[in-house]
Amino acid sequence: MIKKAIILCGGTGSRMFPVTKAVNKQLLPVFDKPMFYYPLSLLMLSGIKEFIFIINKGQKENFLNALGNVDDLGIKVEFVVQSKPRGLPDAFVISEKLIMNESVAMVLGDNFFYGSMLSPIIKNSLKNHKGCNIYLYPSNNTSAYGVVEFNSKNKIKRIVEKPKRTDSNLIITGLYVFDKEVSKYAKKLKPSKRGEIEMVDLINIYKKLNKLNIVKLGRGSAWMDVGNFNDLHSANNFIQNIESRQNYKIGCLEEIAFNNKWITKENLKNRLKQNKINFYSNYLKNLITSK
Ligand code: TTP
Repeated sequence: MIKKAIILCGGTGSRMFPVTKAVNKQLLPVFDKPMFYYPLSLLMLSGIKEFIFIINKGQKENFLNALGNVDDLGIKVEFVVQSKPRGLPDAFVISEKLIMNESVAMVLGDNFFYGSMLSPIIKNSLKNHKGCNIYLYPSNNTSAYGVVEFNSKNKIKRIVEKPKRTDSNLIITGLYVFDKEVSKYAKKLKPSKRGEIEMVDLINIYKKLNKLNIVKLGRGSAWMDVGNFNDLHSANNFIQNIESRQNYKIGCLEEIAFNNKWITKENLKNRLKQNKINFYSNYLKNLITSK
């Protein structure tokens, strides 16, 4: 079982300039919560309690404010400052000491996942994990992402970054699991033409070693890279639609921790004290009284 996960909350956010010139992208609201609550909630739903946040310089206070007291969420949070956006696999280099030679999950702080079968699928993939897991999602926008192509025997043929043409519709989402060797391999990566070390190169190391596993998220789930304005807008609408119809919140950290039995009603009451009266605090109040 994987115990620790990295949440990637650094980067430039250049696709969202000028908004992200002053505010870190992952702190922006996606409907009624900060963006990073959603990837964090996905991993909490999958049973992970220990998190390493990769952040830009000067941002720790902001993330701590957005999280509130994490003891009342039943999770442990550590921060590692990335001095410059050297690419996603750099996370494994700069947090090597905190990974402590164990398998680790990683999720991008601007990725939104949703679906009723999602957490059982992910939970299952975290058990007896070996090598590298990538999580694939069908998309009509393959030219913007890493794509996995298959041969006629349904074996992975190759992984291509942002292909102009491809016969596959399966893209690599921003959730990964790696074995304890990951920091060692990440250190060996050379920057690509755009000057960053690339996830595709790291994943290809595992492919060559025959240690690459794929998990298909399937059409019944939703995945969005909300690091651009169009998908952010779609995610806002999506979450607003589901939440207003069902009266259940997506990505409510307190609810997940409570249902996981990581926290008590006392902890929920403490969280409530930190909130002004609004829809979010009313939701927490209902959690306390309904069970
Ligand atoms: P991206 O969205 O690929 O990069 P970015 O956030 O810099 O945005 P843009 O492309 O608009 O300039 O990054 C995916 C996630 O990883 C996002 O949450 C930011 C984070 N990230 C880091 O933490 N460190 C990095 O070195 C990079 C490149 C990204």
